[in-house]
Amino acid sequence: MEINNIAVLGAGTMGMGIAWAVAGAGKKVVLYDIKQEIVEKTLARIEKGLVRAEEKGQAPTGAKDFVLGNISITANLADIADTDFIIETVVENMNIKKELYAKLSDILNPEIIVATNTSSLSITEIAAAYARPDKVVGMHFFNPAMVMALIEVIPAIQTSEETVETVIKLSEAINKKPIKVKEGPGFVVNRILIPGMNEAAFIAMEGLATIEDIDKAMKLGAGWPMGPFTLCDLVGVDIGLEVCNVLYSETGDPKYRPAGLLKQMVRAGWLGRKTGKGFYDYSK
Ligand code: CAA
Repeated sequence: MEINNIAVLGAGTMGMGIAWAVAGAGKKVVLYDIKQEIVEKTLARIEKGLVRAEEKGQAPTGAKDFVLGNISITANLADIADTDFIIETVVENMNIKKELYAKLSDILNPEIIVATNTSSLSITEIAAAYARPDKVVGMHFFNPAMVMALIEVIPAIQTSEETVETVIKLSEAINKKPIKVKEGPGFVVNRILIPGMNEAAFIAMEGLATIEDIDKAMKLGAGWPMGPFTLCDLVGVDIGLEVCNVLYSETGDPKYRPAGLLKQMVRAGWLGRKTGKGFYDYSK
């Protein structure tokens, strides 16, 4: 079956970038979240981002109309029943995901694949909450999803080979570069990247250098496109901490213990760009 209509469930930062990427590749997207005002706000963010990207020459002229023309929004889950493929990127909470997958079990056609963008939860456990677990798979995008080329494709223990092949083909069809990864905490990228951010937080706590200079060090000394704290603010400090916690709890290895500074930031509500404050100030 050719996949042309895709539902993106969850209109947070990742849902926004994924909807943009998929629509930009010419697929029709239905973007869903539980409240109409959330999806409307996300659509407005996509529009604003596209205006900026066109101005900067990062997107071709006409990209805004093309992408927006391919996206419709809804707060009614029943509206996604007729789509060909689901990308789930709702909040990283297993109980909320399980409730959603139970509802999806009732409304989706049996052949539909449900791909989860989770970066920290067990895909096997998510699949177990769905009526047809062989149709559930990890499809992990990277932030900003309309820019970053990689997709990690992660089969759960229940996932069929056919499901994996379909997701790899779809990833290529939306102009991304998929790699297949076995299920394991952090998969590949986060297993390397998040401990790097965590180490940067330990370095800051030890007072070895300022936040700005640690960022400068990794940009100018290691060629990172952005320093670890700028990246943490982009990804979300809460997401970074969550992945650290998963790496730590799943492996039991103390090398993954999260830095106290990350916990403090999350407790203060300083989650990065999305809250206007993280390691840097985005309020202006
Ligand atoms: N189309 C649309 N928007 C674009 C764009 C494009 N082709 N290229 C850049 N932009 C946007 C950026 O999103 C950003 O938006 P704001 O204006 O809202 O800030 C802005 O343009 C910045 O662009 P710049 O010109 O300043 O920067 P750049 O183009 O040189 O690079 C970047 C931006 C691609 C994000 C680069 O800095 C980069 O690669 N950073 C590293 C990102 C990374 O490591 N991501 C993975 C995070 S881990 C993860 O996501 C997984 C997880 O589970 C936690």
